[in-house]
Amino acid sequence: MKIAVVGTGYVGLVTGTCLADLGNEVVCVDIDEEKIKSLNKGIIPIYEPGLDGLVANNKKAGRLEFTSDLKKSIKECGVVFICVGTPPKENGEADLSYVENVARAIAEAMDSYKVIVEKSTVPVETGEKVARTIRAYNVHKADFDVVSNPEFLREGSAVNDFMHPDRVVIGCENERSRNVMKELYSPLNAPIIFTDIKSAEIIKHASNSFLAAKISFINAIANICELAGADIEKVSEGMGFDKRIGRSFLNAGIGYGGSCFPKDVDAFVRIAEKFGYDFRLLKAVQEINNAQRDNFMKKIEKALWVVKGKTIGVLGLAFKPNTDDMRLAPSIDIISQLQKEGAKIKAYDPEAMQKAGQIFNGITYCNSPYEAAAGSDALVILTEWKEFKELDLKRIKPLMKHPLIIDGRNIYNPEEMRKEGFVYISIGRKEVL
Ligand code: UGA
Repeated sequence: MKIAVVGTGYVGLVTGTCLADLGNEVVCVDIDEEKIKSLNKGIIPIYEPGLDGLVANNKKAGRLEFTSDLKKSIKECGVVFICVGTPPKENGEADLSYVENVARAIAEAMDSYKVIVEKSTVPVETGEKVARTIRAYNVHKADFDVVSNPEFLREGSAVNDFMHPDRVVIGCENERSRNVMKELYSPLNAPIIFTDIKSAEIIKHASNSFLAAKISFINAIANICELAGADIEKVSEGMGFDKRIGRSFLNAGIGYGGSCFPKDVDAFVRIAEKFGYDFRLLKAVQEINNAQRDNFMKKIEKALWVVKGKTIGVLGLAFKPNTDDMRLAPSIDIISQLQKEGAKIKAYDPEAMQKAGQIFNGITYCNSPYEAAAGSDALVILTEWKEFKELDLKRIKPLMKHPLIIDGRNIYNPEEMRKEGFVYISIGRKEVL
């Protein structure tokens, strides 16, 4: 199939490249000409394991190209994916102006039947609005169908998530577009759930909100564990074996961040509000998530007594491992607060230091976790990168002024930390003093 993917952000780039790898002819379109030039030179603007190789292979095979020429791409392709950003407005609602602009541009350019696929995360009823816009600007009176096909890609494992999804959700209103989408996804060995467009749109927001709720739920239980002297890791394990609950997304920590959960949970609260429903459950999910960072700050303040003038080594800046993404990372709030209280920060992250450099001032960036630990009054863990789990703690300890580790991701075993002679404070577990 010939496919145009409009928007070469995270979702567009991964979707376009993977669709090319499935054997389609894909053209990825973006109005940002500099970005297109870079992509044509093989420079991938995001860190995503496996993506650069896949882009190179598919370009070489002639199945993948990058262009700024939207009009030509629309004319040549039968399926058009809308993958542009839907950033939050100040009131938490999604800003749909990019989606509207693209819908209008597609309408003006198309001169034959197109399946227009909404991939960006959008509020329910956007499909109707896209269709209405296309009808209004459809100068060549071309036939078209709108489809909703939400993405469930996780940063850091997006290529694998695309190729091996738990499910593919397709919201469509007729047989013709259903058949096109069915053929497109047939190479994947995954269940396809066909729904109407509105249900597909809600599946996306409901799924992200449910996962965020799982995280806030386990963080609330972690707080109870701390008060009761229980162990959250054991509790998560004991709950997770129940197939109805499942172990994933039951990792207590400093709360969820990133470009999706905070934005989508907020947007879903606003969507519900517009329909006259007060989504109190999700509001509590947000409150618990925000409080989790404050709780962590209190742990640091308690352990250090006075923060002012102390040197704090920070391991991990990205909002989660295997990405360089700093958007709404818990590290931003925590480091800013520590700096406000007068701490000196020495930080290390395997991938995110360049992006962090655009956010923070006055941080010393280190070349290794050991350098960050050297001379520190405390080592604070904010992202659970694999390399931090494998640190040589015997080497770390003598480097530090005090052997104090405050772990926001529960990456170490408290008993082992006790044996190694650390003061070890984590989430939802007894402190090792
Ligand atoms: C999330 C969803 O998992 C994807 O399915 C979805 O497609 C994507 O949003 C999106 O809407 O585009 P992502 O934001 O990449 O993906 O990251 P996740 O792996 O879901 O993690 C989100 C946050 O939750 C991270 O800050 C992570 O540290 C936190 N988290 C996750 C926990 O605190 N505990 C857990 O047990 C799991």
